[in-house]
Amino acid sequence: MSSGVIDNIGTLLTNDPTVGEGPLGLIHNAALVFADSAVVWVGPRSQLPEGTAGERFDAAGRALIPGFVDSHAHLVFAGDRGPEFAARMSGQAYTAGGIRTTVAATRAASVDDLDVNMARLVAEALRSGTTTIECKSGYGLTVEDERRSLEVAARHTDEVTYLGAHVVAPEYAGRPDDYVDLVCTSMLDACAPHARWIDVFCERGAFDADQARAVLRAGAEHGLGARVHANQLGPGPGVQIAVEFDAASADHVSHIDAADLAALSGGNTVATLLPAAEFSTRAPYPDARRLLDAGVTVALAADCNPGTAYTTNIPFCIALAVREMGMTPDEAVWSATMGGARALRRHDVGRLGVGARADAQLLNAPSHVHFSYRPGVPLLSAVWRQGVRVV
Ligand code: NIG
Ligand code: FE
Repeated sequence: MSSGVIDNIGTLLTNDPTVGEGPLGLIHNAALVFADSAVVWVGPRSQLPEGTAGERFDAAGRALIPGFVDSHAHLVFAGDRGPEFAARMSGQAYTAGGIRTTVAATRAASVDDLDVNMARLVAEALRSGTTTIECKSGYGLTVEDERRSLEVAARHTDEVTYLGAHVVAPEYAGRPDDYVDLVCTSMLDACAPHARWIDVFCERGAFDADQARAVLRAGAEHGLGARVHANQLGPGPGVQIAVEFDAASADHVSHIDAADLAALSGGNTVATLLPAAEFSTRAPYPDARRLLDAGVTVALAADCNPGTAYTTNIPFCIALAVREMGMTPDEAVWSATMGGARALRRHDVGRLGVGARADAQLLNAPSHVHFSYRPGVPLLSAVWRQGVRVV
């Protein structure tokens, strides 16, 4: 339990257009009051209610924004793929097969090792402003290795995703349908109790349309919401399957055609863009402008994983999105906060209106525009999670 006031905020970004200006709901010279881990009042500080209890923090005219909601991460793994990255930077192409390197290392690691590594990455994400983070399995690919991966993930976050269908397990090489059967039966039985979501990597070299549908259908029967790794490495059916299953999110969405765009704009599925993956695979960035102009809800996430995007840093992703993907600074910050919340179908995070969790970050800057205006500079001054100062 905690309560207090953050006062003297230069610009408060609420993401609640009903309480402040524009889509970001900006309030200048603001204050925010929280009690029992939730926001209970926001407004101009001149109207701050008398007698608010608890700790008082002076923001000294700086910007306060919601904690980032990183809706896509692979944090349960062991090993390092630095040499693979270096080889790519000297011209080698990325293929989904690289995942198997991490599978071998993850299987060989103890639960404690996996737990310590995930804790390290969650703490690292927090130090760049991320207060909610999703985490997938997908580097175990046996019933027991996937189950224990999800148990580790669930110790650090509520947003846990079963990704047994990341790539065909090495034992099933040449028998992908047998592996899909395993993913949809005994592996799912062991994993579903530890997860909220199911995901499938629908891509050449991973799983095709029929296999992806089978995985999502089996997940739904076990009460798991759908997410899809879609159209990352090339065109394919992933985006449209995501919309067909009312997935919370289609992720990557780097190679889309007019039919994919129409499906996304007519559906309820968020497009989650992961520019750190394009950065680290030296691939073309997704066209966020095209998605936004078609009315698609866009989230930005880091995709932290040892293969294609070994970063937890959302400010880096915001800077890429603004410079390389046609997003405005306002849109990029919205996508990394409210967009992430939408991609997880959460209403309590990603915003700082009344009733939201008091998950906030104070910037050493007058506004959120500085994430892309001052790229690479650590702007974080303080973080509160559920009203408790954690950084
Ligand atoms: O999101 N696309 C599939 N999964 C990860 C890559 C995993 C890996 O190469 O280890 C991704 O980019
Ligand atoms: Fe991913």
